[in-house]
Amino acid sequence: MVQLELSPKEFDLFRRYIYEKVGISLSDQKSTLVQGRLNKRINQLGLNSFREYYDHLVTDTSGDELTFFISAISTNVTSFFREVAQWKWLENYLPALVASKREKKIRIWSAGCSSGEEPYTILMFLQHHLSDFDQWDIKILATDISAKVLSKAIAGEYEAKQVEALPKEISLRSFEKVRGDTQISYQVLPHLREKVLFRLYNLVTDPFFFKNKFDMVFCRNVMIYFDDTTRHDLIGRFSTLLPKGAPLFLGSSESLTTHRETLKLLGSSIYQRL
Ligand SMILES: C[S@@+](CC[C@H](N)C(=O)[O-])C[C@H]1O[C@@H](n2cnc3c(N)ncnc32)[C@H](O)[C@@H]1O
Repeated sequence: MVQLELSPKEFDLFRRYIYEKVGISLSDQKSTLVQGRLNKRINQLGLNSFREYYDHLVTDTSGDELTFFISAISTNVTSFFREVAQWKWLENYLPALVASKREKKIRIWSAGCSSGEEPYTILMFLQHHLSDFDQWDIKILATDISAKVLSKAIAGEYEAKQVEALPKEISLRSFEKVRGDTQISYQVLPHLREKVLFRLYNLVTDPFFFKNKFDMVFCRNVMIYFDDTTRHDLIGRFSTLLPKGAPLFLGSSESLTTHRETLKLLGSSIYQRL
């Protein structure tokens, strides 16, 4: 395989395009990573240069190549019950949320949900902790920019080792076994899957169309790619969607240096709407 070298000028073309399209800010250090990942893609497509690939990327109206490009330069890594401390915190917060409800209705947004582990964890958590779970009207909006991860999320089918690592009292009520030709996997049960609305949504460029507020918003390990301005705008928009007292969950390596007047840090990258 011929290895093409990405010039600073070519890198800049990709950098500008991806920033404009999805708000991802690529530092100079990412040049080698982009070069490596795109070399593979250029070969697959039978193209001859980065410039040819760039033209292919910007003229592809289906958006598929953009999706590919995003997954080549970012990560979709996720897992069930990620950020343990946040689920512990939620355990203590839940009684207050329940007590505050006149109607048994909960609305949650999992923004940047990847292959679905996060929204399904929210449901498994609620099913485990609400004794009258079936009587609640619960809806999770789960969005991501990548159609590829969303199709996995919608199918709700996961490897045996991921599901078998969960406590039995949770997995038995949440999954059914699927026997494939060579291996076993597990699919989230329909009564949980039907509570999630998966949507393709770009957090940076798509309009905020929401009419109602959410009881909580998860946007974990997504903003790591965004620059300060993009992050600032997005957090500002999230805070308008949260009622007073509601939590916003970020990834454990993410913190806010702005919006102190509207969001208070409670610990473990959990912020509360003031
Ligand atoms: C590392 S995963 C995090 C998944 C999950 N929130 C978690 O913490 O386990 C980051 C996800 O953010 C998505 N993402 C990146 N930029 C985005 C954007 N501009 N709009 C929406 N989703 C985006 C990626 O496609 C990816 O699936």
